[in-house]
Amino acid sequence: KLMTLNEKVGQLNQYNGDWDAAKGPITKDDEKQQQIRDGLVGSLLNIRGLQHTTQLQKEAMKSRLKIPLLFGQDVIHGYFITFPIPLAEAASWDIPAIELAARVAGTEAAAGGIHWTFAPMVDIARDPRWGRIMEGAGEDTYLGSLIAAARVRGFQGKGIGNTDAVMACAKHFAAYGAAVAGRDYNSVSMGLPEFWNVYLPPFKAAADAGAATFMNSFNDLNGIPATGNAYLQREILKRKWNFKGFVVSDWGSVGEMINHGYAKDNYDAALKAITAGSDMDMESRSYKNHLAQLVKDKKVPLALVNDAVKRILKKKFEMGLFDDPYKFSNAAREKAAMKNPAHMQAARDMAKKSIVLLKNENKILPLSKNIKTVAMIGPVVKLVRENLGFWSTEWPDSNSIVSQWEGIKNRLGPDSKLVYAQGCGFTDTSRAGFAEAIAAAEQADVVIMSMGEHRAMSGEAKSRSNIHLPGVQEDLIKAIHATGKPVVVLINAGRPLIFNWTADHVPAIVYTWWLGHQAGNAIADVLFGDYNPSGKLPATFPRTEGQIPIYYNYFNTGRPAQNENDVNYVSAYIDLQNSPKYAFGYGLSYTSFEYSNLKISRTAITKKESIKVSFTLKNTGSMAGEEVAQLYIRDKVGSIVRP
Ligand code: GLC
Repeated sequence: KLMTLNEKVGQLNQYNGDWDAAKGPITKDDEKQQQIRDGLVGSLLNIRGLQHTTQLQKEAMKSRLKIPLLFGQDVIHGYFITFPIPLAEAASWDIPAIELAARVAGTEAAAGGIHWTFAPMVDIARDPRWGRIMEGAGEDTYLGSLIAAARVRGFQGKGIGNTDAVMACAKHFAAYGAAVAGRDYNSVSMGLPEFWNVYLPPFKAAADAGAATFMNSFNDLNGIPATGNAYLQREILKRKWNFKGFVVSDWGSVGEMINHGYAKDNYDAALKAITAGSDMDMESRSYKNHLAQLVKDKKVPLALVNDAVKRILKKKFEMGLFDDPYKFSNAAREKAAMKNPAHMQAARDMAKKSIVLLKNENKILPLSKNIKTVAMIGPVVKLVRENLGFWSTEWPDSNSIVSQWEGIKNRLGPDSKLVYAQGCGFTDTSRAGFAEAIAAAEQADVVIMSMGEHRAMSGEAKSRSNIHLPGVQEDLIKAIHATGKPVVVLINAGRPLIFNWTADHVPAIVYTWWLGHQAGNAIADVLFGDYNPSGKLPATFPRTEGQIPIYYNYFNTGRPAQNENDVNYVSAYIDLQNSPKYAFGYGLSYTSFEYSNLKISRTAITKKESIKVSFTLKNTGSMAGEEVAQLYIRDKVGSIVRP
């Protein structure tokens, strides 16, 4: 009641800080700090470091009502210490480990003055052309829902208001991962069964886990931009799910409804966004410049503005910021969190569990630590920051990142020799380095190649029409394979890639995604058998882009192919096997496992009943290992067709 209309609108206004690379078109407001003192800003994002957040909070305390600022940041897979990219973590299928990763990130971010992370990203992705597949949990709704809830629990810890907890933000609401043709920001057209059965459940899981906030998505859904979509934000989220938090728009997405052709101008965009339930406007300034006028023009009831303001103020209260605006400005806490050995150990544990062993013919792996000579070849071998992947934060006095070269070098015995040749670049077509690489291979007993796509080839606005290993990398692999030496190929990427020749000819292949600060150590743990790889693919690997979208839980159709070469009037391609290169849930181990004694407790159940499935799982190999037991079921006669 104390607030003026302008102060209310101020709470709905979020600006990007000027201290970090923006993630979208940035407009300069050189008098931002004056607007903060005038109570016209509710939140800032991309403010890095305690000294900046503390200073800006002091400016906010000069305002008439002293309403504290919320500081938001994309803490997606780590803050001071970077964990594997989220898709890699999903490959671990280890829910407690994934929760711990978010717990560490939340602790570090809160110590760094951040109140709110724009994570977890819970978008189901069935299209590896889409660069943001790296940011979520892959293609499966069930695994994705478990991971969404785990990450919310991790970020929020014992509850928001604790000084080691940040508000979570389930994003991007909704169905952003279904962008047509895998092209980022593109339209989404989807029937309600697919929407409710595949894409919404991870958001519901995040809401049920207590996510403090949601972020809407850039895409239009069936013709209505998510930011202006009342079905999404009011009907489903706030009414049906009774969500009491607030919705922040994605970067500029309020104003982008003009580009969509859904709003005439920013005045109209502000009207449609607030009416549809977008509470906070990130960076478009539509609310700041037009919302008060819309209320005065009786286009927007004051009640809608009050509801949005209340949702935001409630979170500031719950965070304890009204009691102490500097609650998260503790230099000692920041210092302690910056270089915490337990956090680094958690990052290594998560990284080694995220690695997927795709092939291991003649048991080349694990390698002996006393190999006489190892050659490391490829564009990724000696890179350092590359291992952090997209959505990582780099600090001037950052913790040391363990490169793959360093990790292997530190693991080899004292009499072993390690030689190096880059061989080729990521995307250029030069073969000038091949000769040197072949020479390095010829003097080695084993060759470890580390290949892949550049870390900036996946992530936001990084869709690829061609997801093959880029450049001449596969030619280099062929050339090294031709030396006859045993070759292990590591593939680093933020998405499934296509590398059919390598897959068919190279005896050992390990998918290493982007593993963060501990990449080199985790890879050495696996290659030398200090950890028996247990990762399973969280997304399907296609044979060609022509198969996309391809996923394991497809409908059977009326003419299912009877085998992978069946083309006899069935749902198949006449020019390609009817199967993926690697299936969802696939991953090898250094040991072998046997399933037996499968039992089910009953053969029929009603809606309220359940079936107990039991089996005996036996490690039939010579090495301890972990197995992800997977159970796939199918409703054979449903009221709609089922996967
Ligand atoms: C970006 C992303 C969103 C992120 C936000 C702030 O455009 O779409 O995921 O949280 O802007 O960086």
